[in-house]
Amino acid sequence: MRPAVASDMIAVLDIEAHAFSDPWHRASFERLIGDMRVHFAVATSADIGLAGYVVAWYVMDEGEIANLAVALPARRRGIGGVLLDSAIAVARTRAVTTLYLEVRDSNQVARALYESRGFHQITRRRRYYRRPVEDALVLKLNVSLG
Ligand SMILES: CC(C)(COP(=O)(O)OP(=O)(O)OC[C@H]1O[C@@H](n2cnc3c(N)ncnc32)[C@H](O)[C@@H]1OP(=O)(O)O)[C@@H](O)C(=O)NCCC(=O)NCCS
Repeated sequence: MRPAVASDMIAVLDIEAHAFSDPWHRASFERLIGDMRVHFAVATSADIGLAGYVVAWYVMDEGEIANLAVALPARRRGIGGVLLDSAIAVARTRAVTTLYLEVRDSNQVARALYESRGFHQITRRRRYYRRPVEDALVLKLNVSLG
């Protein structure tokens, strides 16, 4: 794992396009590079190169996991977990006590991953997502309790 750099953007956008029905635009990723409030890290593997990425941002004692995706051929090898753990570890180093994220109600795989790290649902945002319209679950992690 390493911090994302500008030359990663083509691979990041390719993973993003395959991972989400409403993907982030290039500018949304590019503006994160070098921002000290942001943890934008990529995971690489010997066989497929850039295998996934995570975006988290932190303000005072709160943070948000804003994006997480792993390339299809690299899934179920623990990479998503490593990326998520890196964002939680950075939160600890910054004295962030609470992390939040939103996940589609139907995204059982991601929900299982987050729950395995101790995230729990605090609320539901009805019809939050588009393409397709769906509720978001807001999950919270008490970082100090890990
Ligand atoms: C969610 C995602 C990042 C997981 O990445 P991954 O590298 O496959 O995840 P890991 O291999 O680290 O798996 C960690 C845990 O997630 C859960 N998980 C992962 N794949 C799963 C599957 N197919 N079915 C059920 N649970 C699964 C399990 O709890 C797993 O732990 P385990 O392997 O010990 O059982 C990946 O599936 C992805 O990119 N999905 C599309 C984008 C997305 O939904 N991002 C999250 C948006 S909120």
